[in-house]
Amino acid sequence: MLLLEKIDLSKLPKHIAIIMDGNGRWAKKKNLPRVFGHRAGMKSVQKIVETCVQLKIEVLTLYAFSTENWIRPKTEIGALMTLLQNYLKIEFERMMDNNIQLRTIGDISKLPKTPHKELVKVMQKTKSNTGLVLNLALNYGSRQEIMNAITRILESRKNKVDQKTFESYLDTSGLPDPDLIIRTSGEMRLSNFLLWQCAYSELYVTPVLWPDFKPENLYEAIADFQKRERRFGGV
Ligand code: IPE
Ligand code: IPE
Ligand code: MG
Repeated sequence: MLLLEKIDLSKLPKHIAIIMDGNGRWAKKKNLPRVFGHRAGMKSVQKIVETCVQLKIEVLTLYAFSTENWIRPKTEIGALMTLLQNYLKIEFERMMDNNIQLRTIGDISKLPKTPHKELVKVMQKTKSNTGLVLNLALNYGSRQEIMNAITRILESRKNKVDQKTFESYLDTSGLPDPDLIIRTSGEMRLSNFLLWQCAYSELYVTPVLWPDFKPENLYEAIADFQKRERRFGGV
């Protein structure tokens, strides 16, 4: 509660994006298989989504699986996909109750059939919800997103493209750029996440591992964000 009081509710970031990192290290610290870290990470997802609903954040983007993560062991990928499937099954009703609209970025057609089907179903059923946009980055990579946009623009035979048009070809079309990008577990890199959209995002890196990331940690990140002076190139 104390930290929540430090937040100015009239100056919240519209769009928060999180690179949820550190599940493996969390499990390792506890001498558990990596999958246990992912399972614990799902609990953090549930809590942080709930907190964003309470704060009335407009968009929450969660980096859940990158285009590079396919090089992981098959068993780990399988476990992540099963977790995604379970998450959608467990959370669907709560999404409806909380007026959450599910969206994705990344090429979800390359995901295994069952989680893909579940995603399409939940997106369809939540598409008229007007509260928090929960945007899951799945099989997402920013370079691929940009290349796809260019390919589609070339196919459309446009001979002139401005910034606005280009952005309408990105997976994030229609969403505001992230105001705040949080990365857990200390790594100071973006790992192919929202490279175009992060042009003026405020970056916040915390050593806290994703499964340990609590609503208090989100309040802390927001309080820090609110102390920053965003200049957008001005003086
Ligand atoms: C983040 O945790 C989850 C995914 C990338 C899917 P990691 O699995 O990358 O955890 P670390 O970085 O090995 O600790
Ligand atoms: C970034 O984490 C991707 C996700 C959180 C889904 P990684 O663990 O894959 O990133 P690197 O390998 O440390 O750059
Ligand atoms: Mg990692």
